[in-house]
Amino acid sequence: MRIAIYPGTFDPITNGHVELIQRASCLFDHIIIAVAVSSRKSPYISLDDRVALAQEVFASASTVRVEPMSGLLVDFAEQHKARFILRGVRNTADMNDELQLANVNRELSPKIETLFLPALLSSTPISSSMVREIAELGGDISPFVPHPVVVYFQQQKKPWH
Ligand code: COA
Repeated sequence: MRIAIYPGTFDPITNGHVELIQRASCLFDHIIIAVAVSSRKSPYISLDDRVALAQEVFASASTVRVEPMSGLLVDFAEQHKARFILRGVRNTADMNDELQLANVNRELSPKIETLFLPALLSSTPISSSMVREIAELGGDISPFVPHPVVVYFQQQKKPWH
C-alpha cells in the first residue's frame, strides 16, 4: 500500500490544497491529510473546525482521509504506516523551505521519503492567510476556497485576520 501524508495547518484549506490532493490521488493508494495543531502559528480556526472543513471537502473521496496531527510529522507518518510525505511547491521560496523541511524529516526518519508536486500556476497566489484577510475585509473568497469554507466564513461573526 502506498500511503502518503499531506501535512499542513489548513487555516483554512484552499483550492490550492484541493487540486494538489486530487492530482496526487493517482500516485497513492491512500492520502491522509494531517491537520497540524501548529501551536507555533497560532491558527485562527480551531483544530476541530479545520479538520471538519477538510473532511467535508473530501467526504466523497474514498482514498482520502483527514486526521488531526500533534507531535512530529515523521512519528505521525510511522503510526499510519505511511512511507511518503507529500508537499506542494508554488515557487522558489516554497522550494527553499520545503528542501529544509524534507532534509530535517529525512534526518529524523530516513525511511520516509518526501515527494514534491508543483502547484498549478493558478494556485500560485493562493495562501490561507490571504483568504483570511480577504474574508475579514468583506471580499469574495469563493474563487480561492471550496464551498464549505465559503459557508464557514459566512457563518462567523468574529474578525478573521
Ligand atoms: N496551494 C495553496 N496554498 C498553499 C499550498 C498550495 N499547494 N501549499 C501551501 N500553501 C500555503 C498554506 O495555505 C500556508 O499559507 P499561510 O502561511 O498563509 O497560512 C502556507 O502556504 C504554508 O503552508 P505549509 O507549507 O503547508 O505550512 P504549514 O505551516 O501549514 O504546515 C507543517 C507546516 C505542519 C507541515 C510543519 O510545520 C510540520 O510538519 N509540523 C509538524 C511538526 C514537525 O514534525 N516538525 C519537525 C519538522 S520541521
